[in-house]
Amino acid sequence: MKPDNPFLVKGYISPSYFCDREKETKALVSSVTNGTNVTLFALRRMGKTGLLYHVGHQLAQRNIQFIYTDIFNCENTKDLALKLGSSLLQQDTTPKTMVQWLGDVFRSVKPVISYDSITGAPELSVEMITHKQGLRTLDDIFAYLKRQKKKYVWAIDEFQQVTQFPEKNIEATLRTHIQHLHNVNFIFSGSRKDMLAAIFSDARRPFYQSTSMLELKEIEEKLYRKFITKHFAAAKQKLTTEALDTIMELSENHTWYVQMLCNGLYKRKLRSIQPAHVSDVLYALIQQYEMVYFNYRTMQTPLQWKVMKAIAHERKVYAPNAKSFIKEYDLGTAPSVNRAIKSLIEQEHISLIYENVNTAYYRINDVFLAHWLRSLN
Ligand SMILES: Nc1ncnc2c1ncn2[C@@H]1O[C@H](COP(=O)(O)OP(=O)(O)OP(=O)(O)O)[C@@H](O)[C@H]1O
Ligand SMILES: [Mg+2]
Repeated sequence: MKPDNPFLVKGYISPSYFCDREKETKALVSSVTNGTNVTLFALRRMGKTGLLYHVGHQLAQRNIQFIYTDIFNCENTKDLALKLGSSLLQQDTTPKTMVQWLGDVFRSVKPVISYDSITGAPELSVEMITHKQGLRTLDDIFAYLKRQKKKYVWAIDEFQQVTQFPEKNIEATLRTHIQHLHNVNFIFSGSRKDMLAAIFSDARRPFYQSTSMLELKEIEEKLYRKFITKHFAAAKQKLTTEALDTIMELSENHTWYVQMLCNGLYKRKLRSIQPAHVSDVLYALIQQYEMVYFNYRTMQTPLQWKVMKAIAHERKVYAPNAKSFIKEYDLGTAPSVNRAIKSLIEQEHISLIYENVNTAYYRINDVFLAHWLRSLN
């Protein structure tokens, strides 16, 4: 499929619209085909989901069945069972095998299948499901997988969500199931490093050291520049070096923001792209999101909002407790700044980034939001 715009801002189509990630793809494919489960971590919008699909694309060529499930919206074990069950249904059945399959995996509940009117993909809903039925459904999903002759790789995205379930033993339940499966490997992915670290690096928890960890950083800039230039050139749009510099600077080479700027520029069908065009696109995007940003403000205490603005202005804050920082932005006391930071991290507005073992800094997660914050007085 050829998209109207080669700079995708959601989803995955094929390697032609996917830049680099060769090392990460190789590492992931090699781990999961050699029996090691992996935890993939990255900041929001760095390209985790895209990479998972890219890996799935490579695995399909090796006859390994790839399954992707996003559990962001799951609040408890039964939601999880349904979500896992329906992605297995979508990706592992043909109309012919579906009835048998339903008997195997959803025998504890009453499934209702409908078909997406556009894609024709089967969608599943179930009537009434209790926690117990959820657990039984999980048992059935894993028993079904175990009986299959083929190999699977199952990517569970936003996995940190399980830490929010009211049922505290879900990690142990999953771990037990996973341990007994030899034809299925898993990639657990998410954006909350603290939560994922709690699951996989805490000696008291069931998943302790059970996976190898992979952190996804920015795409190598040289390769990204080449990718961008190539796609503009193919559409006979000349991208000046200065404009490309501006794209990389304004997006901070953070994948989704790079894609958004390029996508917006591409749509304008300009013959020759100049730095001012890039700023125009950024301005238009920020205007488009301004309502959302205002809404963020109403959800913060005045101090949290001040801290966000201060971090946006500084871009990187190494020592938020430093007297000079607190004084310059009038933030009160160190403990109150710490509390504000904790809350902003929980809301995913800021992240603590490790440069190396000894140095770490805070930054605003959303690159466009940071531009907007800097534009306020
Ligand atoms: N290597 C790549 N080359 C080109 N585009 C990419 C690449 N990786 C991701 N993208 C695009 O960048 C955007 C963000 O990527 P993606 O959704 O994979 O990020 P994410 O880390 O899963 O984000 P979130 O934290 O919001 O789930 C998507 O539009 C995706 O199509
Ligand atoms: Mg994602």
